[in-house]
Amino acid sequence: MSFPTERPRRLRRTPAIREMAAETRIHPSMLIQPHFVVRGKGERQEIPSMPEIARMSPDVLVEQAGHDLQLGIKTVLLFGLADEKDGTGTYGSDSNGPVQQAIRRLKSAFRDDITIITDVCLCAYTDHGHCGLLSQDGEILNDETLEQLSKIAVSHAEAGADMVAPSDMMDGRVGAIRAAMDENGFKNTGIMAYSAKYASAYYGPFRDAAESAPAHGDRKSHQMDVRNRREALREIRLDIEEGADIVMVKPALAYLDVILDVASMVEVPVSCYNVSGEYSMVKAAAANGWIDEPAVVRENLLAMARAGADLIITYHGRKALEGNWLG
Ligand code: PBG
Ligand code: ZN
Repeated sequence: MSFPTERPRRLRRTPAIREMAAETRIHPSMLIQPHFVVRGKGERQEIPSMPEIARMSPDVLVEQAGHDLQLGIKTVLLFGLADEKDGTGTYGSDSNGPVQQAIRRLKSAFRDDITIITDVCLCAYTDHGHCGLLSQDGEILNDETLEQLSKIAVSHAEAGADMVAPSDMMDGRVGAIRAAMDENGFKNTGIMAYSAKYASAYYGPFRDAAESAPAHGDRKSHQMDVRNRREALREIRLDIEEGADIVMVKPALAYLDVILDVASMVEVPVSCYNVSGEYSMVKAAAANGWIDEPAVVRENLLAMARAGADLIITYHGRKALEGNWLG
């Protein structure tokens, strides 16, 4: 069967028909809003390389999250900034750290209407900026790091986080964190694992925002090699075996092939992280008038959903919903 019997244009004739025939839709509940939390009161620090994204103190974050909840964004991903850093990232598990305070505040304001996921890594809390403990000769130690990550995860669970999200890419960290949370009575606190996290150049603006750039070297000894696709399936399988409730592919736009592979393989929800560099490129081009921001954001987010992402972590969510860009 072909023309004149087949006329694909029939399904494109009117906006209403196109909407009816659409294969992919984005619902606000799929969107996760990342936040950078600082200590203090009344703080709102704009981040130059990430327009419209700010570091907030817990009180300001509660207001912002309340506004976002009204829009339908019900899930947040929290990143903490440290006032004190040391070689082992001790401050990350401080029960009065910015993230721990923010969790308590958000939960007392919104209870379970909000879902709180917290990033777990050492890089924002170590003075050298690496995601793990370092050996004498500067190598990132795997097994020694697991204990420190577990302490951070347990401190977030204690404060009331719904899920923790380990982003360090140490081997075995999902299993270690699962065991630590279980032992401490948090068997219902979930894990969203940054499973296929690539050693990407797209994290640049985030590292300004979180003050987490490595003082020397890079993250290639733990984050995945950009050239690899099959290896992502291995990382995903291991994280699920170790107890991940949700897996993640990161970044998103440059890794749609990986999202597609993962979505066809697993039984758990698949998230993707539309990262800072992907965001900042769109904002910079839009600020110059070179692209149509609403249309490009819609197209990008739909691409992630079409590839198979159930959940999208993105800095674009609030504007996209305020402006009704996603329809
Ligand atoms: C911490 C972490 C990073 C991101 C999320 N968690 C940075 C990194 O690995 O260097 C990046 C997020 C973004 O770019 O938006 N390990
Ligand atoms: Zn890190």
